[in-house]
Amino acid sequence: MIEYVDEDFGFFKEEFKTDKNLSKILLVTGGAGFIGANFISYILDNYPEYRVINFDKLTYAGNLNNLSLIENNPNYVFMKGDIANKKDVKNVYEEFNPDFVVHFAAESHVDRSIINPDIFLETNVIGTQNLLNFAREHKIEKFVLISTDEVYGSVEKGHSSIETDRMEPNNPYSASKAAAEFLIRVAHQTYGQRVNVVRSCNNYGRYQFPEKIIPKIICNAMQDKPIPIYGDGKNSRSWLNVKDHCAAIDVVLHSGKSGEIYNVAAKNEISNIDLAEKILKKMGKPLDLIEFVFDRPGHDKRYSVNANKIHNQLGWSPKINFDDGLDETISWYLIHQDWVKDVISGEYMNCYQKNGAGIK
Ligand code: NAD
Ligand code: TYD
Repeated sequence: MIEYVDEDFGFFKEEFKTDKNLSKILLVTGGAGFIGANFISYILDNYPEYRVINFDKLTYAGNLNNLSLIENNPNYVFMKGDIANKKDVKNVYEEFNPDFVVHFAAESHVDRSIINPDIFLETNVIGTQNLLNFAREHKIEKFVLISTDEVYGSVEKGHSSIETDRMEPNNPYSASKAAAEFLIRVAHQTYGQRVNVVRSCNNYGRYQFPEKIIPKIICNAMQDKPIPIYGDGKNSRSWLNVKDHCAAIDVVLHSGKSGEIYNVAAKNEISNIDLAEKILKKMGKPLDLIEFVFDRPGHDKRYSVNANKIHNQLGWSPKINFDDGLDETISWYLIHQDWVKDVISGEYMNCYQKNGAGIK
């Protein structure tokens, strides 16, 4: 694993820094999580001249195994750090002097936010401000915040949110993301920083932690365990393949007009109960694994965003059909049962220490 540790990898660090004139240096926060790990692979595949730093605290959701396919790529480096800690943030900017920041790092699960909102404010709000402060100092070319359609709150049937709609978050997670968005706005309006916000609908694909609904359905079904569906199961979400999301972030990073917000979505709206049944049928599992359970407090009924702006202005559109993407995702989880076992048991959390890496 290529790791940022002075003594062991000093030569690599030098090479990484001196190539700045030849290529762009991209700081990715939260790159050991679901979308961040997919995005780093996407960038290394599509921009072979780029250098990528993965800056991640490795919380329960951060798993270096998600980067096993690219960990030896010489254009990739991992540095452990907490975005809520000013010193860690200062270190990563000073060490690598990045051109771009793509900011994924967050506490991301609504249910956890209801139980413990404080860490959501610390990471999602204070952490974002820390990154912005140093981005200003280091004259970052572009800072992209990965936000969510959840900032709009629950959306009436028949409407799809557009970027100018009001933010009406209803849970601690979405409120913290909305707060981060306001800080981005301030960075642009007051300090003239070059920024974008991407508001995506729910993502699915490989490496998603099985606390989220799609991998939870797949992983529970694999083990013939009950699948908890909140309330009456009629709440609906729109689904986007993570690879399509990565391509959207790419166009926003490189072509998005500074200060703009872009919705990102595919037209895959489905209720939770229909989603659970669809996946169970694909897996050949009985529908009676579904168990209706107590509803989530403040549960948003429906999310739906209109992605015409990114399509018309930047030429992005989703490429992956929902059924094909779901089939591929189910196969991935079936093939990677060791990954699932490690994640469920928490075993992967020891991998950082097991690899003998020095802790910064
Ligand atoms: P995730 O929970 O899988 O990963 C989050 C990553 O951030 C982990 O690697 C974790 O270790 C890291 N992290 C957490 N706190 C940190 C801190 N203080 N300092 C440094 N690193 C820290 O999340 P995800 O699903 O990949 O989501 C990534 C981003 O995309 C989030 O900002 C989320 O709000 C946004 N988003 C997610 C979805 C979705 O469907 N998953 C949809 C829209 C937007
Ligand atoms: P989730 O994957 O947590 O994403 P979000 O809340 O960010 O949309 O949940 C997706 C939907 O699935 C949401 O309406 C809540 C519901 N859900 C269940 O019914 N059961 C579950 O066990 C989970 C985790 C979610």
